[in-house]
Amino acid sequence: MPNLPHDDPPRSPSPDAAARDDTAQDRAGGPTRRQFMLGSVAGGIGGFAASLLAQESALAQRVPVPAEGAPAAVLNPVEVTLEINGTPRVLSLDSRTVLLDALREHLALTGSKKGCDQGQCGACTVLVDGRRVLSCLTLTASVQGRKVTTVEGLGTEERLHPIQSAFIANDAFQCGYCTPGQLCSAVGMLAEVRNGDVSHVTADVRAGAPALTDQEIRERMSGNLCRCGAYPGIVAAVHEVHSGRQAQQAWAYATPIQIAQARSADGDANETV
Ligand code: FES
Ligand code: FES
Repeated sequence: MPNLPHDDPPRSPSPDAAARDDTAQDRAGGPTRRQFMLGSVAGGIGGFAASLLAQESALAQRVPVPAEGAPAAVLNPVEVTLEINGTPRVLSLDSRTVLLDALREHLALTGSKKGCDQGQCGACTVLVDGRRVLSCLTLTASVQGRKVTTVEGLGTEERLHPIQSAFIANDAFQCGYCTPGQLCSAVGMLAEVRNGDVSHVTADVRAGAPALTDQEIRERMSGNLCRCGAYPGIVAAVHEVHSGRQAQQAWAYATPIQIAQARSADGDANETV
């Protein structure tokens, strides 16, 4: 029979009514609504877990566990041909391998350092076709066929690269952790200056090759952090190589007379305090 205007509209059962239904079903010995819902949720999670386990076991069957001491199987392998420090190399790598890991883990070229592994410190800087790149953010497969130069390829122990000699002469490092990246970055940066590339602090970008001031060097090397604070030496070393003259040392050890004068000035100051 159709609802008449004065009939009440059908209403969903109130929580109290639902609870009464549950109690009634409890008494009747059947599953309650709450039991039914809990069972459904548990069944859903169980099914999801079972599907994950099935996927995992299928994957385990596809990837054999290597024997102890044997190299791990390469997933998604790609073959990459590179020229590294003048030597052609062919690598079979997981396609996700970054250049820094390829150099350090596959070629034992451990000069390039992993500082932050996220493009913020510059410790991993290498040269690709003469331009500086952060190897921790560069997929090896993306530099297929290119020339890579690491700190090991800049110079030899017998014949250092000029920037390496200048770093030593100017005390441009302490712990040395950032130094391989600083050296590669300095070499790339000097090439950029020779090409007339401008920087964020170049006053007139139309005036041709900018003069390499301290400010230019600091800006252009700002992607290479040095926790030891060897920046004054790094700037001096870059100046030295760029100008071809030995940079003027901006500091000197104190002489015995200066030390005595400083002590007596300290004593005077203490007496007045
Ligand atoms: Fe690459 Fe820090 S390790 S930028
Ligand atoms: Fe130590 Fe630069 S020399 S971090």
